[in-house]
Amino acid sequence: MSFQPLPYAKRQKVKGESPNLCPPPARQPHLYEPTSSSSNSQRQQQHHSQHSHSNHDRPRTSLHGNFVGYYTRRRQDLSTLDPRLALLPPSALQDKKVLDVGCNSGLVAVEMAQRMGAARVVGVDIDEELVRLAKRTADLAWSRQAPLPHLDPSAPSTSLQRDVPPHASSTSSSAPAPPPSSSLNHFPLALPRMFGYLPAPSSLLTSYHEVPEIETVGLTRRGKRKVMPVEVRTFPENLRFRTADWVNEEIDYDKRGYDVIVAFSITKWIHLHGLNAGLHLFFTRCYQSLLPGGRLILEPQPFTTYAKSARLSDELKANYEQLKKEGAWKCEEGDFERVLLQEIGFEKVEKLGETGEKGFRRAVEVYHKREGSWL
Ligand SMILES: C[S@@+](CC[C@H](N)C(=O)[O-])C[C@H]1O[C@@H](n2cnc3c(N)ncnc32)[C@H](O)[C@@H]1O
Repeated sequence: MSFQPLPYAKRQKVKGESPNLCPPPARQPHLYEPTSSSSNSQRQQQHHSQHSHSNHDRPRTSLHGNFVGYYTRRRQDLSTLDPRLALLPPSALQDKKVLDVGCNSGLVAVEMAQRMGAARVVGVDIDEELVRLAKRTADLAWSRQAPLPHLDPSAPSTSLQRDVPPHASSTSSSAPAPPPSSSLNHFPLALPRMFGYLPAPSSLLTSYHEVPEIETVGLTRRGKRKVMPVEVRTFPENLRFRTADWVNEEIDYDKRGYDVIVAFSITKWIHLHGLNAGLHLFFTRCYQSLLPGGRLILEPQPFTTYAKSARLSDELKANYEQLKKEGAWKCEEGDFERVLLQEIGFEKVEKLGETGEKGFRRAVEVYHKREGSWL
């Protein structure tokens, strides 16, 4: 087989560096680190050693639903968009700041960042090994994607700008479109397997756009509305992963707030660990972390699936019994909807329908936070 290194060379040429491919995945598990360098992340790592294990000593009891290989069990075709995301209108995440709670090995987070035009996606998971895998998922997706037009010197120029400070903003109001799906698997899987991942780009893809959103709107001296430019990043710069028990711990991005929180198939695990009170806390955190007008996209698991999961440990069995005693909230009986609307404060719910095969057949619902509600 003859190997054509041209696309790599093009990217390297733009960066002005000599070709420098990263070593293959087996030798270097993740190539770009989360931006957080704080002692907080060290503290979180210590905390998560209780929840996770190294590659070697890991007994995969998956007490938090932290299954390795989850997507190969759940999805037939990993090259198409996740069916739950496919239920959303195509522009649902365009320019949005998104949190994926319980991101597992990152496939959904990568799809939102790469294919759905999200301004930023933060994937968080309680299991640090899954977070490492998620970074690899992102590295692999980036390594297979076709070179972006503005990295190709022979391509016509686009609206993207490089290395432009925020005050020198473009006046464009539309963010860069996600790459067409035909360019996502442009390079065969064998290429990164043989030669390693492409290095992550540094500040090559950042552009600045005027996006009218509440946090960026200021007033001029005459009291007129002024829309400030915001930084728009494209994949993979728009994607970050963090390890945290998000019910009980904050991550650095929480303070800035999210337009959308995606919580797919995580409520059962939070419920089994924290009972109704834990689930209430999770819903409250979602509400408080959403910006006004934000959306919580929820795929809850029915209570009928809890008994089997509770068999994983004595503690979960005891919690399951306790849940039954105290009157567990059951999504299939409308309890989650009632709590989210009447107790937590969401304005309304939109039911998008069901997806998934066999035991994974579940409903997807979108809870709306009121515009102008800062609580
Ligand atoms: C069943 S998997 C669902 C994965 C993914 N959300 C999806 O549906 O495509 C549940 C994930 O939630 C994570 N998780 C459970 N409790 C969590 C918590 N308190 N904070 C962060 N992640 C959590 C688990 O580690 C696991 O990866």
